[in-house]
Amino acid sequence: MANQSSTSREKTTVKTIKALKGERPIVAITAYDALMTRLIDDAVDLILVGDSMGNTALGYENTVNVTLDTIIHHAAAVNRAQPKALVIADIPFGDAYLSSDSLLLASRRLMQEAGVQAVKIEVGSESLFPKIENLINAGIPVMGHIGLLPQTINALGSYRSYGNREAGRMRLINWAQQLESIGCFSVLGEMIKPEAAGEITKRIDVPFIGIGCGVDCDGQILVLSDVLGLSPDSPFFAKQYVDLSAAIKDAVANYASEVTQKQFPQK
Ligand code: KIV
Repeated sequence: MANQSSTSREKTTVKTIKALKGERPIVAITAYDALMTRLIDDAVDLILVGDSMGNTALGYENTVNVTLDTIIHHAAAVNRAQPKALVIADIPFGDAYLSSDSLLLASRRLMQEAGVQAVKIEVGSESLFPKIENLINAGIPVMGHIGLLPQTINALGSYRSYGNREAGRMRLINWAQQLESIGCFSVLGEMIKPEAAGEITKRIDVPFIGIGCGVDCDGQILVLSDVLGLSPDSPFFAKQYVDLSAAIKDAVANYASEVTQKQFPQK
């Protein structure tokens, strides 16, 4: 359970996450290394090793450049911190649209080499449903990601919200239901209008976790650097809980000043 110290806490499984629906909101956040994972684990149910590492930690413009090897490298670091939260990783750009076998191999590498317990897939086409079902049949828990799909930014041109019109809303509800029926343990929605998100939450029996989807979801996920005040440009829906940018700049400026004035180290 979130907020329980890691010593007295059992490892969170997909079963735990599913059981939280209707009990209490699920707390999810991203992390990309062991340092941060150790700091955040006690407070969260689920850690996503998201491809948002591309534009937050790795200096890319968006998530498109993040490869499977990069996600494996970071997910393995997260797992070395031995978090009690469920650790899931993104299937990176393009991989879900290769063959079913390639998607299985990518997911298998994430589980065997990085030790993640589930994968998340941006679902941009119904053609992915049989491939996702194939993973689930192989024992790979899958979270389906609907709404805004950042991996499609080059096709979209800019980020926008989803579920504004009736047809779009119905399609999102239908896809969420189909993802549930093929066995996804949860569905993540990004930038879906709160009314539509609330309806999806009601219409499926697995947890619907939102980012920029309003309060009527089964849980929330945010990108860690937005929460910590480390992002130069956070999305409008994110909430910054602390200004670590200022704290880090101050600390390093103080260190630099003490070194140049020979105040550190002390004699
Ligand atoms: O990569 C990521 O951080 C995501 C967010 C939408 C949570 O997918």
